[in-house]
Amino acid sequence: MSIKLRLILSNIAMITVPIILFIITSFLLMIVFLGDIREMTNFLPESHNYHKTKQQDTIMFLELKEKSVVNPDGLMSQEYLQSLNNDLSKIDSGLMIRKNDEIFFSTAELRNVDTKELPEFGTERSFRSLEKVGEQTFAIKQHDFFLQDGARVSLFLMRDASPWNRFVRTFFPILFGLCLLILIATNGLLAYFVSKSIIKPINQLKKAAHFIKNGDLEHSMIAIRNDEIGQLTQSFEEMRIQLKESHKIQKQYEDNRKELIAHISHDLKTPITSIKGYIEGIRDGVADTPEKRARYIQTIYTKAVDMDHLIDELFLFSKLDLGKVPFDFERLDIKDYLTDYFEELSFDLRKQNVDLNFQYTPNGIYHVLADREKIKRVLANIINNSLKYMDKDKKELKISLHSTDENVVISITDNGPGIPDEAIPFIFNQFYRAEQSRNNLTGGSGLGLSIAKMIIEEHNGEIKLESTLMIGTKITIILPNHTFVLRRPHHEKDFDY
Ligand SMILES: Nc1ncnc2c1ncn2[C@@H]1O[C@H](COP(=O)(O)OP(=O)(O)O)[C@@H](O)[C@H]1O
Ligand SMILES: [Mg+2]
Repeated sequence: MSIKLRLILSNIAMITVPIILFIITSFLLMIVFLGDIREMTNFLPESHNYHKTKQQDTIMFLELKEKSVVNPDGLMSQEYLQSLNNDLSKIDSGLMIRKNDEIFFSTAELRNVDTKELPEFGTERSFRSLEKVGEQTFAIKQHDFFLQDGARVSLFLMRDASPWNRFVRTFFPILFGLCLLILIATNGLLAYFVSKSIIKPINQLKKAAHFIKNGDLEHSMIAIRNDEIGQLTQSFEEMRIQLKESHKIQKQYEDNRKELIAHISHDLKTPITSIKGYIEGIRDGVADTPEKRARYIQTIYTKAVDMDHLIDELFLFSKLDLGKVPFDFERLDIKDYLTDYFEELSFDLRKQNVDLNFQYTPNGIYHVLADREKIKRVLANIINNSLKYMDKDKKELKISLHSTDENVVISITDNGPGIPDEAIPFIFNQFYRAEQSRNNLTGGSGLGLSIAKMIIEEHNGEIKLESTLMIGTKITIILPNHTFVLRRPHHEKDFDY
């Protein structure tokens, strides 16, 4: 149930529950106070026994009237009047006697009546309509007579005709208190139940927010309800997961950065240390023959070249990482481009006893959008790796080119030592070098393949590596095809360099 609906229902209940409870309790109160529910009818102006009461008080009135004629002094005796009390209360009436202008007798319930407003002497009527006396309304029967001493006596038989007023006046404080009590109770209970269902999950959210504030992103929250707070909890949980994820990435970046600095320091320190050593050797006369000196100087030169190369790669790497390397894209027939490039390489390769085999479908059109220099850098990195890590006497490099409607795919396969399976996932990471190449004296920064990857990704392409130990390594470069490939019958053409 949504909170909105819950609040609406609670508001409706806030009105209806007190009304129902109020009606029930006032009913019960009446029964308790009046003994019998039938008594209630006494209070109703049009009650069934109104008639009966009327008859009784008419009889009483006639009796009094008769007595005033037969024995007026007897009527006026306090003794007789007090004896009437009981009968009067039965017919629910009061008696008031005015002698001259003074009140001579009054039953208890009429004590508060404003006597000045009673009808005057001589306005007697056996049946009188309702009369307002002070604040109250009475049905008054009046009888006027003279005593023997000539005193004017008015006799009033009065029945309270405002029973609702009386009822309300009697019960008002109770009803008011009751009303207040019921309101407070209903309000309190509803507030308790509604707020419990709202405040509890909010408190949970508060706790969870507190955890997050303190950097603890492990506390997951489950939305139990499907209301607004449930949705909020859900969003909160999604936010936590996102935050955790971005924290993880942030940490990864942080770790990478630290690792990068450590690697750079190490890879720069190593050649510098040996350069220092060789120079000290020359300075201190350890290299005491011209041949030795020449060898030392050659080593220093090689180390300096290595460092230069490393700094170049580092520079390129960081510029690529920052996205600050301009790319000069042009439409390129990669088949022609590769043919030219391998022809350029062929002399060097032959010298190193490498057998390079380039295969492609001659009728295929291999157009890509590429930066010539950058692609050359990628190819050089890959081929250099193949040559650098090669451990066989007969070195083989197989390059194949094929295309689909979407892609142009170049794969470069060598018959080198291969890469252990556990190293493959990290091979494109910066500074990563598989264990055996760290131990070998192959040199290298571990930046080559990560640079290649960044360049290929800048071309909207993909670079992958597959490798089997002892057999060799295959690198696949996939670039988006920039031509409509004409489908012609396949026949492969081999190029041997
Ligand atoms: N053709 C290959 N044969 C065997 N191992 C390779 C080959 N290419 C790359 N590797 C492994 O991948 C690592 C990362 O290559 P790279 O990023 O070019 O760095 P570097 O060549 O400077 O070590 C190398 O250190 C090497 O262990
Ligand atoms: Mg390399």
